[in-house]
Amino acid sequence: MRAMICRAWGAPSELRLEEIDAPQPAADQIRIRILASCVNYADTIMIKGHYQTRPDFPFAPGLEACGEVTECGSAVTRFKPGDRVMAMLGYGGFAEQTVASEIDCYNVPDSMSDEIAASFLIGYVSSHVAIRWQAKLESGETLLVLGASGGVGLTAVEIGKALGATVIAGASSAEKLDVARQHGADELINYKADSLKERVATLTGGKGANVCYDPVGGELFDQALSSLAWGGRILVIGFVGGIPQIPANRLLVKNRSAMGSSLRYYRELRPDLLRASVEELTGWWRDGKLKPLVTQTFPLEQVPAAMTELLERRAIGRIVITVA
Ligand SMILES: NC(=O)c1ccc[n+]([C@@H]2O[C@H](COP(=O)([O-])OP(=O)(O)OC[C@H]3O[C@@H](n4cnc5c(N)ncnc54)[C@H](OP(=O)(O)O)[C@@H]3O)[C@@H](O)[C@H]2O)c1
Repeated sequence: MRAMICRAWGAPSELRLEEIDAPQPAADQIRIRILASCVNYADTIMIKGHYQTRPDFPFAPGLEACGEVTECGSAVTRFKPGDRVMAMLGYGGFAEQTVASEIDCYNVPDSMSDEIAASFLIGYVSSHVAIRWQAKLESGETLLVLGASGGVGLTAVEIGKALGATVIAGASSAEKLDVARQHGADELINYKADSLKERVATLTGGKGANVCYDPVGGELFDQALSSLAWGGRILVIGFVGGIPQIPANRLLVKNRSAMGSSLRYYRELRPDLLRASVEELTGWWRDGKLKPLVTQTFPLEQVPAAMTELLERRAIGRIVITVA
């Protein structure tokens, strides 16, 4: 099969399309003929060697995919060959075939396209577990979302609305903010042009946001922390802008909390909550409350160009690799 292979830690331009043997499923795994896979920012971190998992070389990156089941391990009970599934992977999505643990796979609703299914799980589930189970956002609260037009950011906007919150979207351009508005954001802040802290104070009548969803970090984190209301919670999701330090005194003064949220630990330790998240999200999708956004597709040989879109901050919504 063809796969986009990483043989040394580095940039997307160092990946190579190669012919390799197809992987064989273990007893609890299924083999999938990939139809489409999604590009996540984490793929760019993984090939640099800076991600939580560092696979042995050679490996194909790619954290999620949609495809057709071609073979089931002996212990698999929920799937059969021919089923169309969406899967969370450790890696291996930028290839014509992959294997995935049964527990990480879900049937795709008939009316959901391959491109949407390939990009549904990580974006929506990461945001859902963070907002719903970690921060416990309540209806009527205010949710501030940074990077609000990005892969995970846009899902956070929609989930905030589905849970009955007022959503303030923050992004770096008018074009990106317009996308967040189309996906339900009530208020918009261009944090490249304006002070995040001052705008949140103005928009909330001085009270601040109850929850902040932050996949950006870096210098924005400090302003986001200052934008929290009494009892506010900031969700530490990612660090595309750098890893911030948290001054403990700023948490104490208003009884604020900083909460890490990693999808990986829900996969490993709370599969029950993760499954509940997927059920709620697919229900919302069927009800039309979620409108997954795929703005660009690339063929398998152009995975490096697709990753560069994210690294150069041009991506909006999801970028998908069409494999079959
Ligand atoms: N904790 C979890 O479970 C979990 C799950 C999935 C992803 N993540 C993390 O979330 C982060 C975002 O992932 P993603 O796939 O959503 O990425 P993405 O689609 O590229 O979105 C990232 C957003 O961050 C903003 N940004 C600010 N500074 C940036 C910079 N220097 N370079 C690129 N973007 C920058 C951009 O919006 P503006 O231009 O509007 O600022 C962009 O829309 C990553 O760190 C990823 O590892 C965490």
